[in-house]
Amino acid sequence: MQKNIKEEINSLHQALLAVLRSAATTDALEKIRIDFLGRSGRIATLMKQLKQMSLEQKKELGPLFNQLKVSSEQAFNTRSNAIKNFDSTEQALKEKFFDVTAYKPNQYRGSLHIYTQLIQQLEDIFISMGYSVEDGNEVETDYYNFETLNIPADHPARDIHDTFWLNVPNMLLRTHTSTVQAHAMEDKGVPLAVFAPGRCYRNEATDATHEFMFTQAEGLLIDKNISISNLLATAKTFIQKIFERDDIKLRVRPGYFPFVEPGLEIDASCPFCKKGCSICKKTRWIELLGAGLVHSNVLQSSGINPNIYSGFAFGFGLERLAMIKNEIDDIRLFHNGKINFLDQF
Ligand code: DAH
Repeated sequence: MQKNIKEEINSLHQALLAVLRSAATTDALEKIRIDFLGRSGRIATLMKQLKQMSLEQKKELGPLFNQLKVSSEQAFNTRSNAIKNFDSTEQALKEKFFDVTAYKPNQYRGSLHIYTQLIQQLEDIFISMGYSVEDGNEVETDYYNFETLNIPADHPARDIHDTFWLNVPNMLLRTHTSTVQAHAMEDKGVPLAVFAPGRCYRNEATDATHEFMFTQAEGLLIDKNISISNLLATAKTFIQKIFERDDIKLRVRPGYFPFVEPGLEIDASCPFCKKGCSICKKTRWIELLGAGLVHSNVLQSSGINPNIYSGFAFGFGLERLAMIKNEIDDIRLFHNGKINFLDQF
């Protein structure tokens, strides 16, 4: 019997080591604990036999049982720690390599704001024509917003720009992106081709077509022998590209902007109709750009000789373009952050 019990002790220990080796989870481990080390587990059951034994047998087998218990618990704890460590490393790895782009079904996935999409399309078009993209500052000086653009202090054109003046003398929120003109000429010199989309501010009452904060884009090209033909070819190219239609025609009317001479208003034939529709207000033409040849005072003010260089400039409102392109009827929708509006683009 003694021999049998010794063998049983030994094989029970081996059996425990074998299942511990193959256990990979804390759940599996818990089952093993109950099965082997629990109150009515296999070790406890075997140890019960000790009670019925003689003193001598107890003396001989007692230490063996004890050893079985101690070494079984040790083996169990070692394995348990290893699994816990493994679990936490795996967790750490998961956190470290957490894939934010992983697809989850039925998840709301954001999209680029309609502005961003339009700006990216415009930038692509102008970069492909050799322009560089400039940012400019939204907080500007009187000089860059007005003075250097041939709009001196007493000029009536200042009245059109309901300016947000800052509490710092001569500082304002830019009223148009034409501010980029002089910065670009000073920083880059000539020849020059820049495209500058960005936010502008005017102290205006808001309605369906006016916002106190809006987005404009400015284009400026200066080189030798630049004429209105260059301006018109550029305008036509980008308008056709942005509407993805090569049959759009341009119409040019005289316009007045102090920083260009001559000044032009450029309209596009309505991309949506042939006979007049609500978008072109039945006129078949859509007003799109203010433009012209850069005024010699503007060139001179940035140190460029107007007898050698000439250039064109144009500007337009991005919201207006986006509204026409996407049939949006209220400019205020751009900023109210409503998902059901943004969702459509
Ligand atoms: N800055 C003008 C505005 O805010 C738009 C403009 C008109 C820009 C004519 C130009 C230009 O560059 O040549 O209304």
